[in-house]
Amino acid sequence: MAELTPERIVRLELDAVVVLDQRRLPDEEVELRCASAAEVADAIRTLAIRGAPAIGVAAAYGLALAAAHGEDLAAAYDVLASSRPTAVNLRWALDELRDDPTPERARALHEEEVECCRRMGQHAAELIEPGARLLTHCNTGGLATGGYGSALGAVRAAWERGLVERVWVDETRPLLQGARLTAWELDELGIPFSVIVDGAAASLMAAGEVDAVLTGADRIAANGDVANKVGTYGLAVAASHHGLPFVVVAPTSTLDPSAASGADIPIEARDPGEVSMRFPATNPAFDVTPAELVGSIVTEVGVHRAPYESSLPSPVRSAR
Ligand code: MRU
Repeated sequence: MAELTPERIVRLELDAVVVLDQRRLPDEEVELRCASAAEVADAIRTLAIRGAPAIGVAAAYGLALAAAHGEDLAAAYDVLASSRPTAVNLRWALDELRDDPTPERARALHEEEVECCRRMGQHAAELIEPGARLLTHCNTGGLATGGYGSALGAVRAAWERGLVERVWVDETRPLLQGARLTAWELDELGIPFSVIVDGAAASLMAAGEVDAVLTGADRIAANGDVANKVGTYGLAVAASHHGLPFVVVAPTSTLDPSAASGADIPIEARDPGEVSMRFPATNPAFDVTPAELVGSIVTEVGVHRAPYESSLPSPVRSAR
């Protein structure tokens, strides 16, 4: 596997937004060319590119492409903004480009998000003890952020400091972002890991095999409630029961001060066929972990703890 550089994950070319098709990974490394905002929106909706920050970056590139092609920008904004409902990074990125929908601005936003990941990794690594056995859910690596990674970036930073013994990787049903994407990234980084079924996490905690849980986020409410891949809430409950640190790593582009609590966060209901092609099924893509179960939230600004109403920074970077 060639190095997973930011441009390899998602980039803007003259006539297309190009993404590494994450539906085909890890078995096939195939690029998908999106020649319009509508095609970028489709790539987001179908998870060819996924992960909250990466969705934002792709949407920013989609809007810049639309502007370069003289497309109706309001229509391009709407088709991109409505591609998926939960990750607030999507609208954050589109709003960042609203007044300057240029390739330069979109590329700068991409670079900023990657730099945020590096800074989050350093902040979060401070929370990791030597010999750590870390458990993670879904994929929060470079594929999910456009480069380096959020929670998996923290694992990487801690590994580089010699603090990590191994990583437990939840397979993350139904689309297996853990078993396919996180495993692929950790394998490439040479970090020891083991893929587990999602249902094994709690018993590994009970057996004393886990030292901390690190996850990402798709939207964080003003009170610190965290929306993330379905299954995250269950991990937080188990971690709390076993007295383990539950750490959320997410850039400030994931903060939504307009959502007072998790009740204000729209949860995407995906095709039940992703769960069962034969029988009736229900497929919420995300769940909400209440703030009281979140030990710390790590952003590029630093480590934040409850009460989150007063400790979380503003998502408006120019305001800081
Ligand atoms: O449905 P997905 O694969 O887009 O869900 C992704 C997650 O839930 C991630 O944990 C979250 O977006 C953070 S990515 C850094």
